Amino acid sequence: MTWFWLLFAVVVIFGFVVFRGAPYVPSRKKELAKAFDELYRLSAKDVLVDIGSGDGIVLREAAKRQARAIGYELNPVLVVISQMLSRRQPLVETCLADFWFVRLPPETTVVYVFGESRDITKMAKKVADEAKRLKKTLAFISYGFVVPGQTPVKKVGAYYLYRFTPLQTDEA
Ligand SMILES: C[S@@+](CC[C@H](N)C(=O)[O-])C[C@H]1O[C@@H](n2cnc3c(N)ncnc32)[C@H](O)[C@@H]1O
Repeated sequence: MTWFWLLFAVVVIFGFVVFRGAPYVPSRKKELAKAFDELYRLSAKDVLVDIGSGDGIVLREAAKRQARAIGYELNPVLVVISQMLSRRQPLVETCLADFWFVRLPPETTVVYVFGESRDITKMAKKVADEAKRLKKTLAFISYGFVVPGQTPVKKVGAYYLYRFTPLQTDEA
């Protein structure tokens, strides 16, 4: 019976997240190599933030390139999995948080998003607003979705790279 309730709780948690953002589907390692080597060359100078970080695969691939990587994830089951899988990666940090309420750390240089079409405009606006608040340019990598009204600076495979500057006016 305990197993039933445990399973029920997990299903409810995964289901609830859908009301706040994209459901869990992990990025693929091969695709991430394209993003971090060809689209935006990640290095030790970078601090990457993954909004909706899932099992942390993006964070670990970023850390392999010596970047600091911070993930915000709403699903506590995935936060625990991410922390376990990343335990040997001191550059990786996974936080339990709803990204709509998160303020990006001032050191952030690049934001990674694997969201869904419903949210992409709002997510891009959030990052553009954070660029203004932090008074710095932020790179924004979107996996699979273009941001309506914004022109990507580069495209590789299914990835789109945008740059949000502090002076940018709202287009999206
Ligand atoms: C498509 S998955 C991408 C996971 C990871 N970024 C990757 O590329 O492998 C989207 C993730 O966002 C999480 N998520 C959805 N809404 C969220 C919210 N409001 N705050 C934090 N995480 C959220 C989901 O639980 C899910 O793990």
